[in-house]
Amino acid sequence: MQRNGIGKIVGTWSLLFGFLFVLSSVCGASSPVPGEHQGDGKNKGSYHVVGMGPGDTDLLTSRALDVIRKADVVFCKPEVKEKLSSYVDFKGKEVLAGYEVLFRFYGKDCSKLSKEEQTKHEMTCEQYHQKQAEFASLVRREVGAGKRVALLSSGDPTIYGPDMWTLKELHHLDPVVVPGLSSFNAATAVLKASLGEVIITAPFKTEGREDTIESLSSHEKATMVIFMPRDMEDLFIRLAKAFAANTPVAIVSYAGHAGRENAVIGTVSSFAADLSGVDKQTSIVYVGKALAQAQYKSREAGSPQHKGKFYLVGMGPGDPDLATLRALKVIEKADLIFAPKKISDRFASCLAGKKVLDGYHRLFPFYGKECSKLTPEEKAGERMSCEEYHQKQEEFAAMTRAAVAEGKTVAMLDSGDPLIYGPCAWTLTELRDLDTEVVPGLSCFNAANAALRVGVTEGKDTHSVFLASGWSVEEMAVHRSTMVLFTMRTEFKKFIDTLSKHYPLETPVAIVFSAGYADEEKVVHGTLGSILDQVGENKIPFEYLLYVGDFLSDSVDRLNHSSQ
Ligand SMILES: C[S@@+](CC[C@H](N)C(=O)[O-])C[C@H]1O[C@@H](n2cnc3c(N)ncnc32)[C@H](O)[C@@H]1O
Repeated sequence: MQRNGIGKIVGTWSLLFGFLFVLSSVCGASSPVPGEHQGDGKNKGSYHVVGMGPGDTDLLTSRALDVIRKADVVFCKPEVKEKLSSYVDFKGKEVLAGYEVLFRFYGKDCSKLSKEEQTKHEMTCEQYHQKQAEFASLVRREVGAGKRVALLSSGDPTIYGPDMWTLKELHHLDPVVVPGLSSFNAATAVLKASLGEVIITAPFKTEGREDTIESLSSHEKATMVIFMPRDMEDLFIRLAKAFAANTPVAIVSYAGHAGRENAVIGTVSSFAADLSGVDKQTSIVYVGKALAQAQYKSREAGSPQHKGKFYLVGMGPGDPDLATLRALKVIEKADLIFAPKKISDRFASCLAGKKVLDGYHRLFPFYGKECSKLTPEEKAGERMSCEEYHQKQEEFAAMTRAAVAEGKTVAMLDSGDPLIYGPCAWTLTELRDLDTEVVPGLSCFNAANAALRVGVTEGKDTHSVFLASGWSVEEMAVHRSTMVLFTMRTEFKKFIDTLSKHYPLETPVAIVFSAGYADEEKVVHGTLGSILDQVGENKIPFEYLLYVGDFLSDSVDRLNHSSQ
C-alpha cells in the first residue's frame, strides 16, 4: 500500500516534471544565450548571473531555466532551490548558499566609513569584504576548472540588484547576464496600467542629487515607480509636499506571487492620511496620472459572470526562450489567440493546432476618440483611417466577448512587456467588464540591460532611470539621469542633438540592437560626442534602445576594454 503511494507520488512528480520540461524546452526553443561563446570545442567554464524574476517560478524564462539546468555550480538560497525542484534536477550539482546580497561596501575603504555606516548592517565592512573575496575566488576556481557557474539573482538583476558587484569583480571571466523580469513588470501587470514614460527611482536622500523624488515630481506625464519604500510614513510626507494632493497612487505588494498579490489604490493625500492595510516590506509605489486608467479590480469587487477569460500576454523580446513559463502555459490552454505574424512565426511550435488570428495587433490609434472631431494632423501618419481602426477594434472586441461568453480562453500575444509602451494595452480598457489578466513579459529594456552587463541603477551621481521616448527626451534630459530611450520611429540624430544640449559630450552612451536575439544582439558603446560618427550612414533598425548615463562606464565591455 505504502509502496503504491510512493510510486504514485513519484509517477505524478515525473509526469509534472516532464510536462514542465517539455513546456519550457520545446515551446521556448533552445537558442544559444547571447554573449556566450559557442562551439569552440573546448570545455570552457562560464559565469552567469541569472535573473529569476519576482515571485513564482513560472515567471522564469525558459532561457534562465536552461542555464540553471546546465550549471555545475549553483549559488542560491535553500528556499530558491526548493522552489525550483519541480523544474530542475539538482543531482550532481554543487549548490552553495550564503553568498547572496554581498554588495555592501564593495570597492569601499572600510577605514573611511563612519561608525554608524559600519554598524548598521548584518556584517561589518571587513566581513563583507572577506565574503566577497571568498565568493570571487570560488567562482574563479570553478570557472578555471571548466565548470559552468550560475548565481541566481531575484527579479531583474540590473535594477537595484544586489549581485551586480560580482560582474565588476569578475569582469575578466566575461560573465553573462540572463535577463529576468523585474518586480516592476509584475506589479504593473497587477495594476493593469498602461505605462509610457516611467521614472524608476527609490527614496534616496543624498544631498546634492538632482534625481530626488522632489525634483523628479515635475514630470507630470511620467509615472514614478518607487522601489524599496521602506519608511512609508516618511515617503508619503515627501510625496505630499512634492505632488498635488489628488495625484493617483497605487501600492502593489507581493507582485508575482499568485494568490498573495495585492494592490491598494488611492491618492497622495489619502495615503498620506492613512497607511493602514499597506504592506511596507514587499511593496512598490506608483505615483502619476496614468494610474487613473488602471484596470485593477480588488478581489472584493467580485468576478464577472462569464467562465471564460481574456489574457494580455507579454511574450518577451527576441528569441522564444525569453518568454516566461506562465506565458507558455496560457498559450497551452488558449482556445483563441490573437498574434501578429512576427510573434506567431517565433512561437510556431507552441501555436501549432491553435486558432490564431493575425491583423488585430497595434489597434490603439484613435481608440475612444470621435473620428469627426479629429484634426487632419491628428489623422495623418497612420496606416488606416480612424473609421477603419474603430471597425477593427469592434471586430476584435466582438470575437473576444463571444468566445469568453462561451467559457473560452482568449489570449492576445504582444512582444516585450505589454504594458510598457504597449500597443495592445487598450484591450484592457475595452474589455473591462470581462475577467482579464495580464501576464507580464520581459521588456526589451530588461533584455538590453542584461546585454550591457551593468546595473542600470548604479550611476555615479544618479540612481534613477528614465524610460523615455522621442516625445519626452527633451524635458527629461534636464536631470542628466540615466535615460533609456524607446526609439520607436524617432530620428536617431534628433535624440543625440537633444541629449547633447543637457549632458556633457563625454557622457557614455550605448545602443543595444535586437536585444534578446542570440544571433543578432549587438551593443555599440560610445559617447554623446562620438556616437553619430560611429553609426555613420548605416540604416538603424526599429528594434534598438539608446542608453545614456555614466553607469555605462562600469559595463563589463568597457571594463574589459580598459584593462586590455
Ligand atoms: C512600441 S515599443 C514596444 C516595447 C515593448 N512593449 C517592450 O516592453 O519591449 C517599441 C520600441 O521598443 C524597442 N524595442 C522593441 N524590441 C526591441 C529589441 N528586441 N531590442 C531593442 N529594442 C527593442 C525599440 O526602441 C522599439 O522602437
